[in-house]
Amino acid sequence: MPVDVILGLQWGDEGKGKLVDAIAPNYDVIARFQGGANAGHTLVIHGQKHVLHLLPSGIFHKNCKNLIGNGVVLDPVILHKEIHHLLNHDNTLTQRLYVSKKATLILPTHKFLDKVQEDSKKDKKIGSTLKGISPAYQDKIARLTLKVGDILKVNFQEKYLEIKNYHLNLCKIYPTDLQYDVEFEKDFWESIEYLKSLQLIESEIWINEILQNGGKVLAEGAQGSMLDIDFGSYPFVTSSNTTIGGVCTGLGVPPSSIQDVLGVFKAYCTRVGSGPFPTENFGDIGNLIREKGKEFGATTGRPRRVGWLDIPALRYACMINGVTRLAMMKSDVLNCIENVKVCTHYQTKHGEISDYSTDYENIQPIYAELKGWHNYDFSSLQVPETLNQYITQIENWLQIPIKIISIGPDRNQTIYQ
Ligand code: GDP
Ligand code: IMO
Ligand code: MG
Repeated sequence: MPVDVILGLQWGDEGKGKLVDAIAPNYDVIARFQGGANAGHTLVIHGQKHVLHLLPSGIFHKNCKNLIGNGVVLDPVILHKEIHHLLNHDNTLTQRLYVSKKATLILPTHKFLDKVQEDSKKDKKIGSTLKGISPAYQDKIARLTLKVGDILKVNFQEKYLEIKNYHLNLCKIYPTDLQYDVEFEKDFWESIEYLKSLQLIESEIWINEILQNGGKVLAEGAQGSMLDIDFGSYPFVTSSNTTIGGVCTGLGVPPSSIQDVLGVFKAYCTRVGSGPFPTENFGDIGNLIREKGKEFGATTGRPRRVGWLDIPALRYACMINGVTRLAMMKSDVLNCIENVKVCTHYQTKHGEISDYSTDYENIQPIYAELKGWHNYDFSSLQVPETLNQYITQIENWLQIPIKIISIGPDRNQTIYQ
């Protein structure tokens, strides 16, 4: 049976968590394949809000198994806290949670290094969430860090000390006043003990067996395609492949197992952190959408930058991922404005182009203006005619059907076409 994939097509926070939770009952396994606790996936279930950083967004469904795959960089302290918090809500949760022994561990010094490295960038900061993501992936590629499976080995502490010393020496090359606080290690060692009590598995074998036995897997992306380490607006990106290739390397499933690729986008754009954002709106409309859409980071609380939908960027993301179906989120938010703008082309020195361009300094968005669904009340779960026209236009521009329309944060505020 197949692997379906949900991934973000913009700069993250598209509403992936909500969607995964909404469609999870159709699947046997929900699997995170990359990223770490830089992710903040918000689920609203009958009015109750949960923000997940490391747990896959199928965790609230009793019939779904949830996997943290090998491609994830796992902070045991955050995982421990996240589970502890949710156990009050559901004490059977860990019975359906599985963790790959090959997932990379985030150590306290990774988080310290992240701060030191980001601090040293002065006015060129990436805007990292400072969760240790970049240093952990750096060490994974350098082949010198610890994996989840290593916590079961007798020399774990010895190896940990070696890496910690290496990190503290590395910090000396950066001009910083920041001091490493050994206090962080108390929580770390407690969380390592806790991690040992979870179901730690050879997940690539486990997941392939499930597929061979007819099971259905949903791979849950974190971040968004425009933050991909290869295809995003480098260097203002995260440190993993957020796009389709990350599914195969981050879970150990073959490309031929992938069936449906559900691309998720907001009816407008947001970005948190630094980096190019051609359709950014700095005016009143941007502020209005930010307030109406509650566009403040789920992980860091930072205000998100807001702008109009960018069709060339979206088309590029659909191309890279081979998107088969689209889900448009936060359609309700745009009812705060009368006319909705969409960037369809860019103006360059050499004329108009319709393809995505990374020549950010020399492109200007060209907008189409469409009539909005101003003040429309979505409580009847009906799509108004003006929104239907917006959807049809986007489908024409992208040549991919929009099959899901989200009209509110709750699991039930979802329309399937
Ligand atoms: P993710 O990282 O892609 O899972 O997205 P986040 O959870 O970081 O950000 C999406 C935000 O929008 C969260 O606060 C969600 O509760 C909220 N949200 C998701 N879908 C909708 C929607 O259709 N309408 C509204 N108003 N909010 C939504
Ligand atoms: P979800 O899964 C939005 C951004 C950060 C920063 C850059 C690098 O909730 O969509 P990092 O901490 O990875 O070193 O930060 O990437 N970023 C996100 N932006 N949503 C996310 O995740 C993000 N994860 C990282 O703001 O610009
Ligand atoms: Mg988020």
